[in-house]
Amino acid sequence: MTDVSPPTRLWGARFSGGPADALSRLSMSVQFDWRLAPYDLLASRAHARVLHRAGLLTDAELQRIVVALDELDHDARHGAFRPTPEDEDVHTALERGLLERVGVLGGKLRAGRSRNDQVATDLRLYLRDHVRQIAGRVAELETALIEQAERNIDVPAPGMTHMQHAQPVLFAHHLLAHVHPFVRDIARLRDWDRRAAVSPLGAGALAGSSLPLDPDAVATELGFSGAAANSIDAVSDRDFVAEFLFCAAMIGVHLSRLGEEIVLWTTREFRWVELDDAYSTGSSIMPQKKNPDVAELARGKAGRLIGDLMTMLVVLKGLPLAYDRDLQEDKEPVFDAVDTLLLVLPAVAGMVSTMQVNAQRLTETAADGFALATDVAEHLVRKGVPFRDAHEAVGHLVVWCTVHECDLGDVSDADLAAVSEHLTPDVRDVLSVDGALSSRGAPGGTSPKRVREQLDSVRERVHTHAAWATDS
Ligand code: ARG
Repeated sequence: MTDVSPPTRLWGARFSGGPADALSRLSMSVQFDWRLAPYDLLASRAHARVLHRAGLLTDAELQRIVVALDELDHDARHGAFRPTPEDEDVHTALERGLLERVGVLGGKLRAGRSRNDQVATDLRLYLRDHVRQIAGRVAELETALIEQAERNIDVPAPGMTHMQHAQPVLFAHHLLAHVHPFVRDIARLRDWDRRAAVSPLGAGALAGSSLPLDPDAVATELGFSGAAANSIDAVSDRDFVAEFLFCAAMIGVHLSRLGEEIVLWTTREFRWVELDDAYSTGSSIMPQKKNPDVAELARGKAGRLIGDLMTMLVVLKGLPLAYDRDLQEDKEPVFDAVDTLLLVLPAVAGMVSTMQVNAQRLTETAADGFALATDVAEHLVRKGVPFRDAHEAVGHLVVWCTVHECDLGDVSDADLAAVSEHLTPDVRDVLSVDGALSSRGAPGGTSPKRVREQLDSVRERVHTHAAWATDS
């Protein structure tokens, strides 16, 4: 170790005294931005190489700096190097670490860059990495839903609108309806990734550098598709943060809608599914209780994910170009959204893959609430009755059945005729759940054939997404 007294600040020469404690406490971000350390070190290595190519570091100096940065990376990952309360932020802490290892030579690395372009770069690197992890967890949840759909491929279920029985559907069709939103979520993350693949490094504080650096080479080395086209935009742009937070909030909303349904499905009133004990909780007072807390927390976490997005949008609104310290507020919502999703997604996937579907209950109730009424009306339409009249005739039949406490198929020929001249005995031909399901064979419909096709195509999409998530 070279003998230099470690600096605790990256600025200060023009100030007569040290900062007030209150300022230091307010200003400090190292307690949360320390997790950017591996990404800051990646960017530092690329920057060292660009300084070397520009003739600003000798071969030997580059070598010493890169070795020290590797060591620092190792020590930071293993806790041997830690930030101290005097380090304002991750950049300060790592510069101290470098100076501790290579002495004054470490001071050369700051040439041509600023914390403004550094922090914007670090956050992009961090997010591009974590977005892949999130996509991987979303793909696991999709797989859990697809496998449940497969296991219950022939099970009919009540289909609802307004939470009222509407028309029978395949339960697999309903489960797959929860997969498509997540498929769009991953597509959105991939699309986000293309736009986020821009490197701010080289923008310096805001105006670029007078040193002969090569921002495009740095961008390529860091896996970006290119360097930012405008140095002012490079340091002030946080669209990639807001967009990510929107994607995260949307995943949260989808998890919440799924969670809400699972809560309902597990009630005594529904009894559609039973959760595995490993994914249920008990009550401290009521010994009989089995609660769907995973589903409820999935629903609840949407609140904080939406809040994270709101925080960022409000911070950005009205912010003048280029860098302002307000931008330091971007990190906590990002970390919170990432942590929240990585926490909740595996729990929901586990709950879905282990839940027991009550096929008997679903089958028995699929046609409840006169859910085949539309099939009767459409049968009449095929016989030439205008839909308006068919709708009215079946409406009267429903009232008749309600009053007589019977189902559509229980009405005698004479009573059918008494209700409406259109209601001939052949209407009973369409009063079967299986018939209703298989008749809905248009693309996107709930017929068993269409649902099987859908299952295959969605499984294909999930494979591609899972592959993208693991490909770094
Ligand atoms: N901790 C700061 C942030 O997160 C780093 C950039 C500081 N830049 C500055 N000019 N003070 O935004």
